[in-house]
Amino acid sequence: MKLYLAPMEGVVDWVMRDTLTKIGGIDQCVTEFLRVTDRLHPDSIFYKNCPELKTGSRTRWGTPIFVQLLGGQAEPLALNAERAVQLGALGIDLNFGCPAKTVNRHDGGASLLKSCDRLYTIISTVRKIVPENIPVTAKIRLGFDDPSKCIEIAQAVAEARATWLTVHCRTKTDGYKPPAYWEWIPQIREKNPGLKIIANGEIWNVDDFKRCVEVTQCQDYMIGRGVLSNPFLFKQIQQSLACDLKTNPVEEMNWNNTKVMLPHFFEASQIHINELFAVSRTKQWLRAISLKNEEAKEAFDQLKILENPEEFKILLERLTR
Ligand SMILES: Cc1cc2nc3c(=O)[nH]c(=O)nc-3n(C[C@H](O)[C@H](O)[C@H](O)COP(=O)(O)O)c2cc1C
Repeated sequence: MKLYLAPMEGVVDWVMRDTLTKIGGIDQCVTEFLRVTDRLHPDSIFYKNCPELKTGSRTRWGTPIFVQLLGGQAEPLALNAERAVQLGALGIDLNFGCPAKTVNRHDGGASLLKSCDRLYTIISTVRKIVPENIPVTAKIRLGFDDPSKCIEIAQAVAEARATWLTVHCRTKTDGYKPPAYWEWIPQIREKNPGLKIIANGEIWNVDDFKRCVEVTQCQDYMIGRGVLSNPFLFKQIQQSLACDLKTNPVEEMNWNNTKVMLPHFFEASQIHINELFAVSRTKQWLRAISLKNEEAKEAFDQLKILENPEEFKILLERLTR
């Protein structure tokens, strides 16, 4: 079984990947989407999207990363995929799930779920140009507005020879509204028995994970928002799968073992981009953590009103000491 950290644009950047893979339990990451229009990006853009290209496409803790591309034109996507691989990408993931209006208006993300022919053309064109030993994968939602479309979408993905398919178990129209409809996955598998499927959506804790396993019977799972609110979630899932639970108890998340990461996260974000960015990303993460933890919420309420990086940093250090 493998566990994947979900790509999240504006959230899971180099610093977040580094922070979360240090804790452990994550088998693989995917970058935030890199949007492709009609031309080849300069190398600097690939390195900005995936600084880990310079370190063997792995985080400092050894976790491999795929580069995710988003766009509607097959040829430019293929050229950018080829370049990413030349720069060291270990795999290319194609985004067919983004619901953002600006992305969909410009022909990318979930709007492509309306046409299986276009999905097929894009994936097979990228597959042909990328060396066979490098995975080309696809990430979809169940459909644009009709979840039953997932069956034929998955068929197009399989026929285009994608290495695997990640299914975020909602339509574009569902947005992020719970629940996730995991029950579609066995139906996709029945019609596409050779296709490896990664289940994704609404896994917030170990019990959700166990229910998702029961319903989908997948080998592999992807988690996004759940690990932002509980940074130990992947590790807890891995520990719950281990047989020796008595000698290896599940590590609970609490404010003490979480708060110590925040000053490092702030500093790394500051070095990565700048101090204003660090303020905004630290607030964003703390807000996610405070969904599950009352002490984090108290800290967030005090920090959220501060804009000045110096003041923010001083209070952050005091609250997390
Ligand atoms: C803020 C945010 C940004 C996201 N960005 C991406 C992205 O860049 N590429 C992508 O394929 N999915 C993206 N997603 C979708 C997630 O990868 C994932 O499919 C979704 O959040 C459902 O999983 P979860 O319930 O575990 O969070 C994003 C989701 C969120 C909330």
